[in-house]
Amino acid sequence: MNLSLMAARSENGVIGDGTKIPWRAKGEQLLFQALTFNQWLLVGRITFESMGLLPDRKYAVLTRSDGIEETDVVRTFASIDSALNGLASVTDHIMVAGGGQIYETMISKVDTIHESIIHTEIEGRVRMPSIPDDFNVVFSQRFSSNIDYTYQIWRKSPSPQ
Ligand SMILES: NC(=O)c1ccc[n+]([C@@H]2O[C@H](COP(=O)([O-])OP(=O)(O)OC[C@H]3O[C@@H](n4cnc5c(N)ncnc54)[C@H](OP(=O)(O)O)[C@@H]3O)[C@@H](O)[C@H]2O)c1
Repeated sequence: MNLSLMAARSENGVIGDGTKIPWRAKGEQLLFQALTFNQWLLVGRITFESMGLLPDRKYAVLTRSDGIEETDVVRTFASIDSALNGLASVTDHIMVAGGGQIYETMISKVDTIHESIIHTEIEGRVRMPSIPDDFNVVFSQRFSSNIDYTYQIWRKSPSPQ
């Protein structure tokens, strides 16, 4: 299974406040839309309820309760392991798409991180975890917008043999 993670954070490491993302950087969402098209997204219940269902995406929702209805494009899982096992028969790629709890659990397990750094400092209580030391930036591009942002791709170094 290939695992990627996609997140946008402010310069001071904020990814959300309550259920909301506390900025609007025009254009930045296009990166998310392109990279998640037709993909399985692994999301926490709070993120799923706040982002709503985008067309042309499939959702593996982590929740320990039974309040989310399953459909053709929404499956629920009570643990990370059951999600990874359950999706193995339907896909070879999962995009970890938030929020804070899910990034915290998954960041050391993914192979690739797509990170947008939004060039603002902002208050918010949900934070991006640190990127582990075995990741390196392999691509970086700054975009001008109402709030500038820099899109970076990080890849995990292969483990020594
Ligand atoms: N900037 C970005 O790129 C970005 C992207 C996505 C989200 N966000 C933001 O992130 C915030 C939400 O993040 P959050 O940390 O509050 O919540 P979250 O990670 O979206 O969801 C947390 C919920 O997921 C379930 N969960 C977590 N770990 C689990 C596990 N191991 N097994 C089973 N279920 C598990 C639990 O659901 P139950 O309570 O139902 O058991 C838990 O309450 C929002 O502000 C959102 O806007 C930002």
